[in-house]
Amino acid sequence: MLPPGRGTDDDAEPVTDATGDAAMSPLDDLMIRAAHRVDLDGLGELAGSQDRAEVRLQAAGRGEEAMLVAVAADRVVGVVSVRWRDGCDTPNPWLYGLAVVAPARRRGVGRALVAASEAAGAARGADAMSLDVDVDDEAAVSFYQRLGYVIVRPHQHRWRAVDPRTGAVTGEGTAPTWIMRRHLPVA
Ligand SMILES: CC(C)(COP(=O)(O)OP(=O)(O)OC[C@H]1O[C@@H](n2cnc3c(N)ncnc32)[C@H](O)[C@@H]1OP(=O)(O)O)[C@@H](O)C(=O)NCCC(=O)NCCS
Repeated sequence: MLPPGRGTDDDAEPVTDATGDAAMSPLDDLMIRAAHRVDLDGLGELAGSQDRAEVRLQAAGRGEEAMLVAVAADRVVGVVSVRWRDGCDTPNPWLYGLAVVAPARRRGVGRALVAASEAAGAARGADAMSLDVDVDDEAAVSFYQRLGYVIVRPHQHRWRAVDPRTGAVTGEGTAPTWIMRRHLPVA
């Protein structure tokens, strides 16, 4: 278990973010842990589909990736995956598939999932964490910049949809993205 990325600050004044929304208090009981098969039911929506969640869990089971979930009040509220090899910015591990359920956003869950991913990468000796984000996704770019990531270059992301039962490729395509990267402190 890893601690959430933000401490509790119940006595602090409400914080207003750039959009004018009041930031909500951090989730007190937030826990980040490896995803398990029992989590799959709650992951379909966060991963885009049940099949995509299954493919990610299978890759984690083979040791090619880590798949972490954020849990609060016994519910999965966020997920992220980290591919250890053959990412979009080798040799750095590639963080992908980060998502937080809408009601839990702006409460430090995304930050905690990224911090746990970085800690796992640093523990494996990685110097940096990389990710790619759609060029028109200004919200995600802002979020990652807030966490210390910088845009390093444009990229054409090649995606593939795979049937988790047969391994057959059911769709593929490309999307223009930015590669973003953050150097990690030495573990
Ligand atoms: C992007 C996402 C994962 C952020 O998760 P979150 O739990 O709401 O983020 P956090 O509360 O940990 O925010 C961490 C910091 O980023 C900032 N931030 C979060 N969302 C932001 C946004 N949409 N725009 C600008 N800044 C944002 C927060 O204000 C916070 O800053 P602070 O240090 O001043 O408090 C979440 O909005 C989400 O699931 N979006 C849909 C999927 C997605 O875009 N995934 C990422 C691209 S692959």
